[in-house]
Amino acid sequence: MDKMLADKSANSNYMAPLLNGGGAKNSVKTGAKAVTKSPAASTRREPSKKRMLRTPIEHIDIKKYNVVPLVDAMAKTAFQARNLGRAAKIYDQMIKDKDCSIILCLAGSLFSAGLKQVVVDLIRCNMVDAIVSTGAIIVDQDFFEGMGFKHYQGQIMVDDDMLRRNFIDRIYDTYIDEDELRACDAATGEIADQLDPRPYSSREFIREMGKYLKKKGKNKSSVVLAAYEKNVPVFCPAFSDCSAGFGLVHHQWNNPRRHMSIDSAKDFLELTKIKLKTKHSGLLMIGGGVPKNFAQDTVVAADYLGFDVAMHKYAVQITVADERDGALSGSTLKEANSWGKVDSGAEQMVYAEATLALPLVAGYAYHKKNWKKRKARGFAALLD
Ligand SMILES: NC(=O)c1ccc[n+]([C@@H]2O[C@H](COP(=O)([O-])OP(=O)(O)OC[C@H]3O[C@@H](n4cnc5c(N)ncnc54)[C@H](O)[C@@H]3O)[C@@H](O)[C@H]2O)c1
Repeated sequence: MDKMLADKSANSNYMAPLLNGGGAKNSVKTGAKAVTKSPAASTRREPSKKRMLRTPIEHIDIKKYNVVPLVDAMAKTAFQARNLGRAAKIYDQMIKDKDCSIILCLAGSLFSAGLKQVVVDLIRCNMVDAIVSTGAIIVDQDFFEGMGFKHYQGQIMVDDDMLRRNFIDRIYDTYIDEDELRACDAATGEIADQLDPRPYSSREFIREMGKYLKKKGKNKSSVVLAAYEKNVPVFCPAFSDCSAGFGLVHHQWNNPRRHMSIDSAKDFLELTKIKLKTKHSGLLMIGGGVPKNFAQDTVVAADYLGFDVAMHKYAVQITVADERDGALSGSTLKEANSWGKVDSGAEQMVYAEATLALPLVAGYAYHKKNWKKRKARGFAALLD
């Protein structure tokens, strides 16, 4: 530990009771009298890394819980419960509509928080035909777990300097082993090193990650792997803004003249081709950000190419962002209608945190069983 860190550690003693599991344990007996240890002394007894990384995040299994009666009851109430009930019914309608292809958009730290298996099940049950996501969800969280690593339950009231000293990264109340994340960065670099030097869409690269997991993966519960097996294309329009970015920087640094690259325009072209192949489209958006706009904009891109395509017929968004700042994440689906992106009628915003709302929306559609009659689109195979 260097001196600066040591000094900081001594100053962060206000966290000591939490780190050591409560105030009582910080007392030491001297003769008959119990006295509280000096703060500097108590910070020395920090928990081991192994102890901090001992409770893995367990992923929600929507198959286990029939939430249909609950969601139906919520639809008859008010506020966000009613909005969620309507959103679940719209998602089920998308699944029932034989002419509708479904694009799932993902932003936020969803898989580190236990929502990965929900998306694996949606893929395996033909409840989603294409995915647009942030890189962090697909690489740092999904591919990472596919390699056999885990996310762990942590605390928010913790000494982050102490976490840093132990190479533990924190996402709110979740911990990640930074050493394991480095292995994930390295694996993406290794995949890049083996590819022909040319531009790739993120979808093509993620398919290579699926191949990698098929051969070398240690956990079959992976969206990258399930999507590879079911020919569901996965796009990350800002692919380098995650663990993969480090691997790709390493690849390009070491191969300055002959290297592969990610072509974000190719991503947009491929997703637009999917929009052109389908009569109707529905969006299930979790969080906002780049994936939300990228998927919505395929209507405008198709129109710009001279095709007369329908706006997205169905749209659901689960978000905590609100519309008052004028930014994209919280902009309503009603507003998207003015831009010619989302049709009015079958759209619904749900203002809720995704770990609460997605298991209900996805679980409702799963237990309604309309997916059983739905055919896989296999869009990834069509794009090659
Ligand atoms: N999230 C991470 O831990 C992380 C880690 C490394 C890199 N990144 C990169 O940062 C960029 C931004 O990603 P991001 O994950 O921070 O998303 P983001 O900040 O772009 O999220 C957009 C919006 O989604 C909504 N949202 C996010 N999480 C939500 C939730 N749990 N429930 C409801 N709504 C939610 C919020 O309104 C947010 O403003 C991406 O390029 C990503 O790859 C993120």
